[in-house]
Amino acid sequence: GTVYLKDYRQPDYLVDSTRLRFELEPNATLVQSRLKVRRNPAAGEGLPPLKLDGVNLELLSVAMDGAPLAAADFTCHDEGLSIPVDRAEFTLEICNRIDPEGNTSLEGLYLSNGMYCTQCEAEGFRKITYYPDRPDVLSKFTATIIAPRDYPILLSNGNEVERGEIDGDRHFVTWEDPFAKPAYLFALVAGRLEKVEDRFTTMSGREVVLQIFTEPKNIHKCAHAMASLKAAMRWDEEVYGREYDLDIFMIVAVDHFNMGAMENKGLNIFNSACVLASPETATDAAFQRIESIVAHEYFHNWSGNRVTCRDWFQLSLKEGFTVFRDAEFSADMNSRAVKRIEDVSMLRTAQFAEDAGPMSHPVRPDSYMEISNFYTLTVYEKGAEVVRMIHTLLGPEGFRRGSDLYFDRHDGSAATCEDFIAAMEDANGVELQQFRRWYSQAGTPILEISDDYDAKQQRYVLTVRQSCPPTPGQPEKQPFHIPLKMGLLGADGSALPLVAEGSSEGEINERVLEITEAEQSFTFENIAEQPLPSLLRGFSAPVKVRYDYTPAQLRLLMRADRDAFNRWDASQRLAFGAMAQLQRDFRAGIALQLSSELVEAYRSVLQQEGLDPALVAEMLTLPSAQTLAEEAETIDAEAIIAARKFAEHTLAEALYDELLATYRRLNHDKPYRPVADDIAERRLKNTALAYLCVTERKDALALAEAQFVAATNMTDSSAALAALVNRADDQCAEAALQSFYERWKEDDQVVDLWLGLQSSSPQRGTLGAVRALMLHPAFELTNPNRVRAVLGTFANRNFTQFHQPDGSGFHFLAAQVIALDKLNPQIAARLVTPLTRWKKYRTGPREAMHAALQSVMASGQLSADLYEVVSKSLKTD
Ligand code: ARG
Ligand code: ZN
Repeated sequence: GTVYLKDYRQPDYLVDSTRLRFELEPNATLVQSRLKVRRNPAAGEGLPPLKLDGVNLELLSVAMDGAPLAAADFTCHDEGLSIPVDRAEFTLEICNRIDPEGNTSLEGLYLSNGMYCTQCEAEGFRKITYYPDRPDVLSKFTATIIAPRDYPILLSNGNEVERGEIDGDRHFVTWEDPFAKPAYLFALVAGRLEKVEDRFTTMSGREVVLQIFTEPKNIHKCAHAMASLKAAMRWDEEVYGREYDLDIFMIVAVDHFNMGAMENKGLNIFNSACVLASPETATDAAFQRIESIVAHEYFHNWSGNRVTCRDWFQLSLKEGFTVFRDAEFSADMNSRAVKRIEDVSMLRTAQFAEDAGPMSHPVRPDSYMEISNFYTLTVYEKGAEVVRMIHTLLGPEGFRRGSDLYFDRHDGSAATCEDFIAAMEDANGVELQQFRRWYSQAGTPILEISDDYDAKQQRYVLTVRQSCPPTPGQPEKQPFHIPLKMGLLGADGSALPLVAEGSSEGEINERVLEITEAEQSFTFENIAEQPLPSLLRGFSAPVKVRYDYTPAQLRLLMRADRDAFNRWDASQRLAFGAMAQLQRDFRAGIALQLSSELVEAYRSVLQQEGLDPALVAEMLTLPSAQTLAEEAETIDAEAIIAARKFAEHTLAEALYDELLATYRRLNHDKPYRPVADDIAERRLKNTALAYLCVTERKDALALAEAQFVAATNMTDSSAALAALVNRADDQCAEAALQSFYERWKEDDQVVDLWLGLQSSSPQRGTLGAVRALMLHPAFELTNPNRVRAVLGTFANRNFTQFHQPDGSGFHFLAAQVIALDKLNPQIAARLVTPLTRWKKYRTGPREAMHAALQSVMASGQLSADLYEVVSKSLKTD
């Protein structure tokens, strides 16, 4: 059924304390709970029945205040228990059994390579025991874990308070968490694990023990995560004034995991891929991802745990805010501009597509069938953009005042998005009434901007019209409050002075225009020449800007804008225009010709001295096929593929010498360090290598082969392998793939990379090759990382092969989704996403995708997860 935000009601009962006892057995784990329950005085009169959530549990016994209840004394159904209540306070004892080994959903308690672990967010705790599994019920947890001695490590939240032997071959550990928390933050881990340990002294001088646990074979890969954790702890003190609150902070790496990681109080559980790294086995991208995810989960200790969410509609309260926090952390640790470009590219490609698709929802959704489906780019990334806009509107100090008040007011409780904005308002004496629409209205706003310069009056007028396309359930939108950061450039690229409105500061050269109306004009006086506007600097709002730039204007912005993000953005606009022309020509049957403006712009970028190499690499990267698809009114996959291929080849041939010079200049031996400057150089070097190999010239492929053989780090090694796999003849690529696999087959993260490389290759990632990978001994349908590496990569990153005109890619994906749904509904519901966009495609693929989606619907009983996505996508309005 569907759950609605408007139906929210306070919990009838509160749970003051929760005592849990686990006797671990792979197929028959015994769970006992003792709950101190109390009628919620704020929830109304009388004593309604106590409702507990429970799924896939074998109930053994229930007792109230020590008196066992007979089966007739309560009702037990598929989704839980309903227990009549005759007193306002009581102790409830429940005993049930679960099957961790049979739990392939990776929600609740499950086994991963023989290690017990849990994932309770959002509604996984109900797969462990009967409980009011909702985030507004906060309770103090104590957990005793009993296991055979060959599970030496037994972990849960908080502090260890007791340990001992049970009988000859079993032992136990008891953990107590002093902070009240909702059940979704509970965690348990048991296994044969090793740990690395470090220490952190907080700003008030408390010592915190830091531990990272992994399987023994991975213990050498924890250093980077540990360093990232310490940096994050310091940063949160410095930037937000937030200190860690327990004496111990633990991270555990788990191989089977649905998402990136989980912020369980004091015991974060991570997907191995998001914590383990060594220079030999992890790419620069992996190092940076680990840094940001370790920080993200750590930051949740305040934005998520100390202040949690009232209900799951408020998910962005913790996720949007925490993503904003981790993005700022990464920006401070690395290149701010590059981090911003990476995040915005992802948002524009994937979040904009989500906003325009059948699952489109506001940052704070108002209904859902299955909450797991709403851990989305909209809630996370767009949610972070909404927080960033508040930051832009209030300034860093104002934002900090607001966050201090927010943490202060809501510490130890469950809050709402409304509470967050109210704190920002109250701390600053401002009013953000209209701004709240960002939380309630879905869809990507469009700003159509035009301008007019009056040379005689020296007056420049910018006119902004905003609109937002309809989304499911929201045919019409009210205007948003949009901060539009901008500046003006003179013909020579210099920043033109602006006069700050209502400010005594005098001259400035950047302003944040506050767009609030459907149509609005801004007048700039004393503008001495016809200006070129630099709009939406730093991507100051998650919107699309339409302004008719000429290629020459874009080249000026690329060269001279003081905003690094907009220099990159200008390069993207230029490339977009060129690629759009190629697509039209392809359809019209005209011989393709790439705009010389684009070629020359790229050449200038390669020749310009003193630029950040990472920025150069970003500017030289054509918009992905997925990005082109998102921008298209109707997706013409064939034309996109042809245009992109042609543009890449033309650029590679035309700029061969410059690319080669760049490659040579940067291809030096340097001990590997995953720091911003070095990452930037490798990024540009490998971008150049990829272009060189597009030509399929022998010399270029020889460079890739040499790099592949000589590389001492995974960034260079995998980039060379990718170049070979994407461009070299079969024999050469096959040999490289073989030797790579032989060298790394014991390393799960590298094997994932190896699988993904093949699945994404426009040459080799054909359907046949992908099917073969699924039969490879390394593949496992029950391991989400493997599924993502092979199937996710094929469907989301191999535009060419996935969109084969015969529709074979779509039907293949549908079949895999159906099979996966029986094992892991969350993963199945994610994997089906590319098919849900069928309506945007040109006729042909559109019908094929639709048929594939219908075959999923017709395949039998679907999980709630998959049903929600597929049924919403099939709806014709
Ligand atoms: N809260 C976690 C994080 O963002 C993600 C939890 C994912 N859970 C889920 N059911 N999808 O750090
Ligand atoms: Zn999170």
